[in-house]
Amino acid sequence: MGRNGAGKTTLLKMIAGVEMPDSGEVRLGASLIMGYFAQQSLDVLDANLTVIEQLQKDFPQEGLGSLRTLAGAFQFSGDDVDKPIRALSGGEKSRLGMARLLYDPPNFLVLDEPTNHMDLATKEMLVDALRGYEGTMIFVSHDRTFLRGLSSRVLELGGENGTGATPKIYPGSYVEYTSQTGHEAPGTHS
Ligand SMILES: Nc1ncnc2c1ncn2[C@@H]1O[C@H](COP(=O)(O)OP(=O)(O)OP(=O)(O)O)[C@@H](O)[C@H]1O
Ligand SMILES: [Mg+2]
Repeated sequence: MGRNGAGKTTLLKMIAGVEMPDSGEVRLGASLIMGYFAQQSLDVLDANLTVIEQLQKDFPQEGLGSLRTLAGAFQFSGDDVDKPIRALSGGEKSRLGMARLLYDPPNFLVLDEPTNHMDLATKEMLVDALRGYEGTMIFVSHDRTFLRGLSSRVLELGGENGTGATPKIYPGSYVEYTSQTGHEAPGTHS
């Protein structure tokens, strides 16, 4: 949690190894295999491929049938899988990004605002999918559906005005965090 500019993305980038800390160090357990969904991540998709071609490129060992099923689970049905990535909406790109990440998920997920651009039905589907995830997950989200459904501990950066230097850990879920602090995520969905 934290206001815009508090440093949430920067923290996740340091965990993901994309950004180096000025001081201190990042230590990850030896058995961790990380999957990272960046806030501006969708540039890793190949704009010239279609949805199904991208999945075929990512999972060359899989048959077309299972990849269509995967696409379908992320709401690309019928001809949608033949849309070129360059023509996808923000929400469609996020869905494709999450489909790629969750097909064969690693044991540690780092997600930076994964539900941005997603509609409510898609978010609920994603929360359901992630509820069954057995690994460890750290995420930044302003989305109450996501926060309520998935958080079990809250790290707040920047405090009340976003510039506080000391991060705070709240041991409970998002729901306990809001009742303790009175802070709510500024999301529009309740
Ligand atoms: N590479 C960089 N060099 C210098 N300053 C940066 C860099 N990246 C981010 N910042 C600054 O660091 C601060 C934290 O940025 P960050 O993107 O981590 O915020 P955030 O908490 O993720 O915000 P948001 O809710 O808008 O996503 C911001 O003031 C930002 O302008
Ligand atoms: Mg951010």
